[in-house]
Amino acid sequence: MAADLNTPGSEIEQRYLELLKDLRQQVTIPINMKLSPAFSSVANMAKQLEDAGASGVALFNRFYQPDINIDNLRLVSSLHTSVSAESLLTMRWIAILHGRTTLSLGATGGVHTAEDAIKLLLAGADVVHICSLLLEQGPSALGQVLTGIKAWMEEKGFDSIDEVRGRVSQISVPHPAEFERANYVHILDSFRSGPGVF
Ligand SMILES: Cc1cc2nc3c(=O)[nH]c(=O)nc-3n(C[C@H](O)[C@H](O)[C@H](O)COP(=O)(O)O)c2cc1C
Repeated sequence: MAADLNTPGSEIEQRYLELLKDLRQQVTIPINMKLSPAFSSVANMAKQLEDAGASGVALFNRFYQPDINIDNLRLVSSLHTSVSAESLLTMRWIAILHGRTTLSLGATGGVHTAEDAIKLLLAGADVVHICSLLLEQGPSALGQVLTGIKAWMEEKGFDSIDEVRGRVSQISVPHPAEFERANYVHILDSFRSGPGVF
């Protein structure tokens, strides 16, 4: 999408919807749309896509920004793989959408360990995508993630992924506001600086 000062967000939303409608006329297979995390209302965008006939959404597309080399003052294009912390943004939106939409919810971005995948399943993801981990460690890493998920399920007494899915989504937790920005002040209050920092 062009970073154009004259393009309103509504026009970008409309492009996604038009793309979906065009695709639906061409194919009969289910269509899942991968969304940017930068929509002003991710949940509403998902609802619009659901109403327009999407089968699912994948949250989120990971954009690769150019970097700047401060020695030669040039742009550098290099691939930075993700880190686990990136999955928390996805986790929050999956948790908010779970149980409120018929869309299949795919989680993508920052899944490197069984723990990352488990959190996204608990939030309500139907599927978890993995890319950076495979690039870094090869296909055998998938086995480790799977083994970790199975061990955790056994430890917690879960027999199936269905029992896990959405257990910690927004509609399931005792304090749904913890997924909202209102929790910001509480989070800031809980921060502790390193030793010697006042
Ligand atoms: C080399 C590479 C190629 C990718 N190609 C695509 C693509 O064609 N379409 C797409 O939707 N995402 C593409 N992605 C994004 C991944 O599908 C994934 O959403 C993203 O890397 C975040 O997941 P990760 O943290 O597991 O890497 C690509 C990522 C990488 C690293």
